[in-house]
Amino acid sequence: MKDAAPQRIHLADYRPPSHLVEDVHLTFQLDPKATRVTSRIRFKPNPDSEETGFRLHGEGLTLISAKIDGTRVDPEMVEDGLVVAAPNDAFTWEAVVEINPEDNKALEGLYLSNGMYCTQCEAQGFRRITYYPDRPDVMAPFTVRIESDLPVLLSNGNLKERGEGFTEWHDPWPKPAYLFALVAGELVDVHDTFITKSGREVQLAVWVRKGDEHKCGWALNSLKKSMKWDEDIYGREYDLDIFNIVAVDDFNMGAMENKGLNIFNASAVLCSPETSTDADFERIEAIVAHEYFHNWTGNRITCRDWFQLCLKEGLTVFRDQQFTADMRSAPVKRIEDAILLRARQFREDAGPLAHPVRPESFVEINNFYTVTVYEKGAELIGMLKRIVGDETYYKALDLYFERHDGDAATIEDWIKVFEDAADRDLSQFMLWYSQAGTPKITVTETFEEGTHTLVLEQSVPDTPGQADKKPMHIPLLFALFDPDTGQQFGEDVLLELTEPRIEIRTRGHDRKPVVSLNRDFSAPVIIDDTSRTDDRLFLLANETDSFNRWEAARSLTRDALTALATGGLGPGEEYLDALNGLLVDDSLDPAYRALILRQPSEEEIAQAIFDYGRHPEPLSVNRAADTLRARMAAHFEPDLPRLFRGMQVHGAYSPEAADAGRRAFANGLLTLLSRLDGGTAARAQFDQADNMTNRLAALGSLLQIDEGAEALARFESDWKHDRLVMNKWYAIQISLAPPEAAVGTARALTEREDFDWTNPNRFRAVMGGLVSNPAGFHDATGAGYEFLADWLIRLDEKNPQTAARTSTAFETWKRYDPKRQDLIKAQLDRILGTEGLSRDLTEMMTRIRG
Ligand code: PHE
Ligand code: ZN
Repeated sequence: MKDAAPQRIHLADYRPPSHLVEDVHLTFQLDPKATRVTSRIRFKPNPDSEETGFRLHGEGLTLISAKIDGTRVDPEMVEDGLVVAAPNDAFTWEAVVEINPEDNKALEGLYLSNGMYCTQCEAQGFRRITYYPDRPDVMAPFTVRIESDLPVLLSNGNLKERGEGFTEWHDPWPKPAYLFALVAGELVDVHDTFITKSGREVQLAVWVRKGDEHKCGWALNSLKKSMKWDEDIYGREYDLDIFNIVAVDDFNMGAMENKGLNIFNASAVLCSPETSTDADFERIEAIVAHEYFHNWTGNRITCRDWFQLCLKEGLTVFRDQQFTADMRSAPVKRIEDAILLRARQFREDAGPLAHPVRPESFVEINNFYTVTVYEKGAELIGMLKRIVGDETYYKALDLYFERHDGDAATIEDWIKVFEDAADRDLSQFMLWYSQAGTPKITVTETFEEGTHTLVLEQSVPDTPGQADKKPMHIPLLFALFDPDTGQQFGEDVLLELTEPRIEIRTRGHDRKPVVSLNRDFSAPVIIDDTSRTDDRLFLLANETDSFNRWEAARSLTRDALTALATGGLGPGEEYLDALNGLLVDDSLDPAYRALILRQPSEEEIAQAIFDYGRHPEPLSVNRAADTLRARMAAHFEPDLPRLFRGMQVHGAYSPEAADAGRRAFANGLLTLLSRLDGGTAARAQFDQADNMTNRLAALGSLLQIDEGAEALARFESDWKHDRLVMNKWYAIQISLAPPEAAVGTARALTEREDFDWTNPNRFRAVMGGLVSNPAGFHDATGAGYEFLADWLIRLDEKNPQTAARTSTAFETWKRYDPKRQDLIKAQLDRILGTEGLSRDLTEMMTRIRG
């Protein structure tokens, strides 16, 4: 059965479920090797289904007994579950199964993580717990009894009863099985309460291992801020008496929105100033919010099927982005999101793994928790909001909650509420959900006798399985500037591109005006802009849209780096002067200046070189980045020490945006300063830092100038007892190793006693560290490829999901020269040829191989 060719599932084949579930009773008798799960489920035929027959999903279960209406039955085992004859009307199914949590290293279903029981059921993990129609359009209230001697026994919903060796929970809100959760262990909680807007008191708790209590405050506080924000902005109130968050050491993703019992990767919840960076604090705040927001966008309204994943994820990411923008700085958040989108999603869209925001088929759904579904999915919501306007957006959302509460909904349902609220036809907009690939907009300008003509032409590239695409509905925020005064002409205009080509003509200019397109990154598109360097320098000085001002700096830096990496001239004086002007401009937010200073990644430069039609040489890109840093340091030298000193934060550590922004800027400056002072300032900061942000940044600066050995050793001896901190130690020394040493460093680290590779965070620290050192990973001998392939094969046997995610490191292989392509292909083939390879990794390798 295991060897059967993996089945491809198609959106077009969706059929309503044959049966609906009225209620579910589960009893767990916990045991590390033999947990018994007894289920009593009330089924009734679905009037909307033509399906006959009764099937339940199940995977890796030992069926002990099964009954229908109290009579023993003998089900037929099939590939993904069982089939059994069932009555034509309502009936009760009862089953006893046995499962082995201790052996479960896939971290799906019920598993043990450092002695603690926990579950992960999205997308299809519930079928590893008991037989069930494991699909999101089957929703039911759950009652759960947990029997165990462990002190803390949690499940979804409200606590009904607690007694000697058991608890009983009831979740009144009908939910799909993927939102089921159970946790049991020796846990302690840090708690608080929240009063909802209608005056109900909710008990909030963060559950952790003893000793981690001091790392819970920030998450708890983030939860309260999220609850308040969702009431204020979306009018959404929480709907149970309890909200629990649990920190788990072994977890494949960031966190999971199980109803009333969110389960988090420990790295996405635990933090303290000594052990966590400002970026960790911001990420934790955002993930706590994201999971909380799912209570309405995901749980109360869920997805009809897994093709609709972006319905909950795109919207919830958009909501957490709005939240972060409100808690911190909106312009900074917009830039951070654009950086992420371009680095990861544009790359996905440009390669063999490109797929629509709503895919039309898949082999393994776990492979579709992607940046396209999440981050591009969020951009689509932002575009809708811009197209209909803020007021109509919130009207549409109210309508969505009103019309679909309790539903398992589709993207069609979602778009319909916008069409109804805005009274517009959005069928062209739907293409954003079905056409993969990043639209490209080519810009041409002409200026004749006072008339300026701007021509915009859109095209969507071919992607695997999709060619000849239709023009999209693209909202582009646009402004024209007077080159003499530096002032904007009139108001911003929102251009709605719907045709392949448009012309915008303005008259009566003395000189050619300067164009600023896609302000605020209003659409996730590539602007193929041939604009000259002096237009960008103009925008750098005059643009009032903070995104496009940053964009001007970014594109100048990108050009300088691509030129340096391909044997051209480096950055011009004018550009360095302009940049310097921004850095010393105290009217600008330090967090914003930090972003101006931050270089594009080597990945981004490699892609840019490839877009110009050449194979990037990773070592040259790496050297170019280094050269640019050196030039910047030299050029900014007169201001650097003073600026650095001026940005120091005094007093008690606060993770809030203002202080974090100063630290981000100071630490960017420190990297440059270290090239001038041989690391003196960085060493001093490393020694004196009272927080992880400054300590890690100092370590990074030292590693970049090859002066990090001593600090690394100190760091290890200070933190060897803390798994999360040690993940940073693992990652940073690989990602900042000199290219020729990167693979060796990574390999040596995997030989350490504490390299627990079945822990996804630790595995990612090493593999992610290597991949983020492109010149090291793409070592011309192919050693990096072989190293990664070895580990993917090894991990796949235990944890296919994390192995498959990590394999995306190979998705850019066609960018590189023929020799490297051959080396990578050989590894892809070796992986594919491995006996017993998982469905997850097989699908990824097949798609990447192309
Ligand atoms: N649904 C989770 C989120 O986005 C992510 C997740 C998916 C976690 C699959 C685990 C497994 O918040
Ligand atoms: Zn989510």
